[in-house]
Amino acid sequence: DVASNAKKYQDGKKQKSTTSVLIPEHSIIQLDSDDYRNFSIVHERKYEQPSNSILSTGEISFYDISYDMDEAITKCKCPKICPYFKKAEPVKQILRNVSGVFRSGMNAIMGQTGCGKSSLLDILAHRKDRRGLHGQILVDGLPPPDSFKYMVGYVIQKDTICETLTVQENLMFSANIRLPKEVSYTERVERVMKIISNLGLESCADTKIGTEFIRGVSGGERKRTCIGMELVLAPKIFFLDEPTTGLDATTARNVMQCLSDLSKEGRTIIFSIHQPSYSIFKLFDTITLLCQGEMYYHGQTKDLLDYFSRQSFTCESHDNPADFVINILIDAGQKVGALEKLKLAYENSSMSENIIELKRKQLAIDHFTRSTGQKSGKPVQPLWKEIYYVSERTLKNTFRNPVLLLAQLGVAITIGFLIGLVFFDLQRTIDPGVQDRLGAIFMIVATQMFSTMTELETLIKERALFVHV
Ligand SMILES: Nc1ncnc2c1ncn2[C@@H]1O[C@H](COP(=O)(O)OP(=O)(O)OP(=O)(O)O)[C@@H](O)[C@H]1O
Ligand SMILES: [Mg+2]
Repeated sequence: DVASNAKKYQDGKKQKSTTSVLIPEHSIIQLDSDDYRNFSIVHERKYEQPSNSILSTGEISFYDISYDMDEAITKCKCPKICPYFKKAEPVKQILRNVSGVFRSGMNAIMGQTGCGKSSLLDILAHRKDRRGLHGQILVDGLPPPDSFKYMVGYVIQKDTICETLTVQENLMFSANIRLPKEVSYTERVERVMKIISNLGLESCADTKIGTEFIRGVSGGERKRTCIGMELVLAPKIFFLDEPTTGLDATTARNVMQCLSDLSKEGRTIIFSIHQPSYSIFKLFDTITLLCQGEMYYHGQTKDLLDYFSRQSFTCESHDNPADFVINILIDAGQKVGALEKLKLAYENSSMSENIIELKRKQLAIDHFTRSTGQKSGKPVQPLWKEIYYVSERTLKNTFRNPVLLLAQLGVAITIGFLIGLVFFDLQRTIDPGVQDRLGAIFMIVATQMFSTMTELETLIKERALFVHV
């Protein structure tokens, strides 16, 4: 029970985390593909809470981001073989010279399907393969450290939550794995309890997420748990890829309201969204419109309709502004020259000019002294602790999923029985006794090896939880 747990831990001895960790303050993210490895560490500074103070204002600016899929393939490690396989692939430019800035608040990225929303989020969160990537990303006006992706929250569209664990156990697992060892166990529990209460998950904290066989929490509660799993890091910048997809209108509104409340704490919430209802749309502070990998609006929500009315598109009084602007872009994409006209209007707008001005100011400061490359972020926990927490989670998952456990046991017993039957009562001779024993050893090793292959699927499924590519 959450309340009693919280009290229990509050009563316990409070340990303040005083140890500070050294992290690079300015290590450049220069995304030009040829020299992306030449990141630099210019200074180092101490900070107390790893996820928070590095990103003091949570401003993330990005300039001339282009992502070229064709280049990403040709610049792979085996250029002689890859062009052979990609012969039939057309050249694909996913993002073209996209620039902008996101500050604290609710920042929505909208556009029709396939326009590059998820790609932009991946690039900003430093999770895209850098081959084929060009442009610059700055956090608080400075190049972020190489371990930036471990400092921000990212809720991917397809969650990788453990369905046999309860909401609280999932949050606790995330806290154990992702918070550095300097954050004591008591503090981790307190943090989890606070998140449970902030996200309104008290009533389902001890409920399992739910599998095909076990009825669990609702879709909205599951989504909020995924958000909570990222919030344990207390990130200043928080990315979400389609947080409302698959939710009904009320649940979607609750989730977005929850995010809006978080943004009021000074967090920068950046998310992609499809067809938001008007009540959700009202929560957005800024809107970024993408179409075919290019930007067509990047400014305040309140100015959106005025901007398009200046381009002679008037929104009817009962039309949803979000649907209205997306329809403009879809229609423009089908008319010759219409999209170019809108692009030109955006390039001549004050929004675009402001970004160019900001870019001029930020890039004028010479933070980019290059030196030898720096490896990406170190794990926050020692290896043995990581193994411990992951094993604990896997064991709980296995025992709480009796069907899977029984099936595995059944297979092992049957195979054991069959092998025993075939190799029963071997003779104590060199031939055939030794030969048969070799056969038995071969069979046992081979069946053991191949029976573990079924676990590969689970590993691949859960990869996204651990590997932040
Ligand atoms: N690894 C890849 N290989 C080939 N094409 C890719 C790859 N990643 C993205 N794309 C293409 O880039 C385009 C943009 O993809 P992205 O996932 O960013 O779109 P999106 O705006 O998020 O779409 P949706 O709203 O459907 O999620 C799509 O046409 C997609 O097919
Ligand atoms: Mg997407």
